[in-house]
Amino acid sequence: MTAISHSSGDLIADRRADYARMLDEAGDHAAAAEVMEQAMALVPDWPAGLALLATYRENAGDVAAAIATLKKLDGEDAEDVFAASLKLAVLGAAEPPAHPPGRYVEALFDSYADHFDQALTERLEYNAPERLAALLAGSEGETRRFRLCADLGCGTGLSGAAFCKRVARLEGFDLSANMLAKAEEKVVYHHLAQADLLLAPEESGLFAPGLERRRADLVVAADVLMYLGALDSLMDNVASLIAPGGIFLFSVEDGGDAETFTLLPSLRYAHAFAYVEGMLSRAGFDLKSHERAALRKDAGEPVPGILFLAVRRLA
Ligand SMILES: C[S@@+](CC[C@H](N)C(=O)[O-])C[C@H]1O[C@@H](n2cnc3c(N)ncnc32)[C@H](O)[C@@H]1O
Repeated sequence: MTAISHSSGDLIADRRADYARMLDEAGDHAAAAEVMEQAMALVPDWPAGLALLATYRENAGDVAAAIATLKKLDGEDAEDVFAASLKLAVLGAAEPPAHPPGRYVEALFDSYADHFDQALTERLEYNAPERLAALLAGSEGETRRFRLCADLGCGTGLSGAAFCKRVARLEGFDLSANMLAKAEEKVVYHHLAQADLLLAPEESGLFAPGLERRRADLVVAADVLMYLGALDSLMDNVASLIAPGGIFLFSVEDGGDAETFTLLPSLRYAHAFAYVEGMLSRAGFDLKSHERAALRKDAGEPVPGILFLAVRRLA
């Protein structure tokens, strides 16, 4: 993912920060940290600068200094846009939060929207939507059509595009306005709206006036749960959205033998199979099929995932 960047408001500090970035990219992490310290001397409370300084210090192997910088960032960044809480947890200096900060995820995808499709499909070999579509075809056949599909965390619409041929109405929901704007350009959705899957159903945006409960016979969430952490609110939302007998199709990063879910160095979450199965069952779903598969690449390595197809119980 690309970094979120903001100007410091000080031209010289920005120039030093640019130079520090070049040094870091060239592999001279200690020099990058030193130049970034000089930038921060001019704008000591600049949140984006603190986030960069922490990264360069960590890259240079000075974890204690990185933690100190992240603690200062934590105090300066009230909305946690730069995810100090997650980074401190990854470095072992704080407990992992149950959910990522919403403003961090929103800003991350807002900044990523213009490059998302090309990066994901060309460089990262992203194929979760196609694999989920294949899992659906394997379970329900190629010809079954759906009345209403809700694509949760629809992003730029790669997932909607994989399902639109077999649904009469396609609705897309996402936290990021810029991702939604890109989805609109694909002209496959009948309804697109901002929503937060971590909020309770009545506040999430999935049930705005005119949008009934239990209206969907297919709900898809491709490559989204790794940005949610604990799955309670997601399951409440999907259970409210889906009609009895409806299908919930989604992917997770494979959390292996963990009891529940794990925060990864990538700042995404991985979910254990047993945790997901238990959450589905509690929310009124029967797991019908699942498949282990690489979802995409990260730093050149395949990301192990699990694809799930669950059916909402009739009663
Ligand atoms: C990796 S993208 C996947 C997009 C799309 N499903 C696809 O397959 O291309 C993850 C998407 O989940 C969205 N997302 C993350 N957390 C969310 C939340 N709490 N509520 C709604 N959308 C969220 C992000 O904004 C992003 O667009």
